[in-house]
Amino acid sequence: MLTVAVLISGTGSNLRALLEAADAPDFPARIIAVGADRQADGLEHAENFGIPSFTVPWERFPSREEWGAELGAQLRVWNPDLVVLSGLMRLLPASLVDEWAPRIINTHPAYLPEFPGAHGVRDALAAGVARTGASVIVVDNGVDSGPILAQERVPVLPDDDEHTLHERIKPVERRLLIDVVRRIATGELDLAAASQPDPQE
Ligand code: GAR
Repeated sequence: MLTVAVLISGTGSNLRALLEAADAPDFPARIIAVGADRQADGLEHAENFGIPSFTVPWERFPSREEWGAELGAQLRVWNPDLVVLSGLMRLLPASLVDEWAPRIINTHPAYLPEFPGAHGVRDALAAGVARTGASVIVVDNGVDSGPILAQERVPVLPDDDEHTLHERIKPVERRLLIDVVRRIATGELDLAAASQPDPQE
């Protein structure tokens, strides 16, 4: 059984979907801890599912390195097989990424490498594209630049605003995330192999 820790910053709707999926007896992974960089609303989903949670408040640390060191210490308490960033809106320090890579994945509300960063939905709208998407990637030391594990296109509708578009992307993200976690757990998806440089490039 693959053990998973999930890190969030916000409402945690994708976390809730993963918790629901992992609650099914035949799902091959289970969530053992949820962490956040603030008192995030989404922590209540962990509580509802009886999953332990921890908060490492960003503003209490003088630097990203020190915040990341405490986050790393918390993760080591649980020692999960996989770390899932599900709406964690902070870049992790390289020391933490290097410790967990490639067993650390992230969901992103755009079709990477298009529109990386904190405003993937807003940036797609501003660019006037007809299609954006959702992606699940391995975290590396760049901004949403790691190997892509799954992605799918989502159309932009003429009257979309950031909220309506994001709400249409999120169900796709959830489906991709749950499927990626399932495939990692069954061994169908090998994160080490997926993180190898492409020999064609
Ligand atoms: C998700 O769309 C996730 O991809 C995004 O935050 C949202 C969290 O939603 N993350 C990023 O943009 C990271 N660059 P949720 O809190 O409702 O699950």
